[in-house]
Amino acid sequence: MYKLHTHCRACDFAKPGPPGIKNVRNERLVEVLDLGIQPLANDFQDERGEHSGFAPLKVLFCPRCTLAQLSVAVRPEILYSNYSYVTSATETMRSHFHQLWLDICRESDAKKVLEIGSNTGDFLDFVRHHGAGSVMGIDPAENLCAVAAEKHIPSLASLFNRESAQKAEQLLGGASVVVARHVFCHVDDWRDFIRNLSLVGDRETIFCIEVPYAKDMLAINSWDQIYHEHLSYLTLKSVDALLENSDFHIHRIIRYPIHGGAIVLMLRRDASKESPDPESMRMVREESFSADEWKNLSQTATVQQKQLKSTIEELLSRGSTVAGFGASAKSTVWINACGLTRKHIRFICDSTPQKQFRFSPGSEIPIADEGALLRERPDYAVCFAWNFLPEIIEKQSLYLNQGGRFIVPVPDIRIAP
Ligand code: TMP
Repeated sequence: MYKLHTHCRACDFAKPGPPGIKNVRNERLVEVLDLGIQPLANDFQDERGEHSGFAPLKVLFCPRCTLAQLSVAVRPEILYSNYSYVTSATETMRSHFHQLWLDICRESDAKKVLEIGSNTGDFLDFVRHHGAGSVMGIDPAENLCAVAAEKHIPSLASLFNRESAQKAEQLLGGASVVVARHVFCHVDDWRDFIRNLSLVGDRETIFCIEVPYAKDMLAINSWDQIYHEHLSYLTLKSVDALLENSDFHIHRIIRYPIHGGAIVLMLRRDASKESPDPESMRMVREESFSADEWKNLSQTATVQQKQLKSTIEELLSRGSTVAGFGASAKSTVWINACGLTRKHIRFICDSTPQKQFRFSPGSEIPIADEGALLRERPDYAVCFAWNFLPEIIEKQSLYLNQGGRFIVPVPDIRIAP
């Protein structure tokens, strides 16, 4: 189901030597955080008790290039062939798409856009209505490519590999922009990914890699973004180290507030005529991370798990009812790390049809439609989609006006509004 990952995928630190000569320099990635054996965060099942398997959820830190990464890589076929993560169709997301697209258009004519991990095609649909000439997606989830097809977004149902890169490039007739939103952190073999990028586009193609930024995760305690799909927690120095022996370099870095803090790394080919942005180069030089910062996050996570569970138990003991809002992958991490059951959380509301009327992975908590919040009116709902909190508060004003309250777990557990 998974393989162990013991060396740094960015800089090869602790890479075993030739067969028989293991790890000649005695290097080791540093273990910094351990969430135990966990279910797969998006493994929503129709029947209670069913699952695709459990795997360790442990983070290792590279003392050389500062990349944090999971100690195992679950086979992508298990994670992605029938995927239930759907890009949230929210105003927050639309305004992010808008800002990202403006930033891309400052760099490129953006005529032909290829998206790796195109999901249900929402980003490509957006850019097609905002000036992109032609678009093409690649995504391994056949169920999501079918949804994209309904919006007339052409996509290849495949992982990003040599064949799909070549085919997409041919069908698109040469990509001027390649976008990979929250995909690169899901990739095990980064060197292979970079090799496949080199099959796409021309000298001036811009490659935009969007990922959660480790700095933001540490700043807001969002350890719930640690799950099996997220193999790496990126730092600028680690990407710089990865690209050292490639034909690409970091051209520009932009930070965005989406998902609690993300960075877009705009890469260009070394042969490009455009010079790297000096301010971005300064960001790379000045960035620093330590294993201790991650160990502190680990301690915070333990404290917060106890706090959330005891907050819910106290509310229940006073006769209140508690549900969840947003069956995000993050909800699975919280529920399993805290040991929450259906006794704690009656149900979780979610707008995603792919999740509704199924069970939260690793627990028997059912997923209901979004309307269940008003129908059932629990006194409290744990907002597992905290990254959309302002929009949720606005949308659920009726629930709140009737006395309902959200328990927000990040950055610190609190009742809102
Ligand atoms: P995400 O943070 O991984 O995108 O997951 C957010 C989840 O919350 C996703 O399953 C959709 C759900 N959600 C709702 O059901 N209603 C909402 O208003 C919002 C913003 C999200």
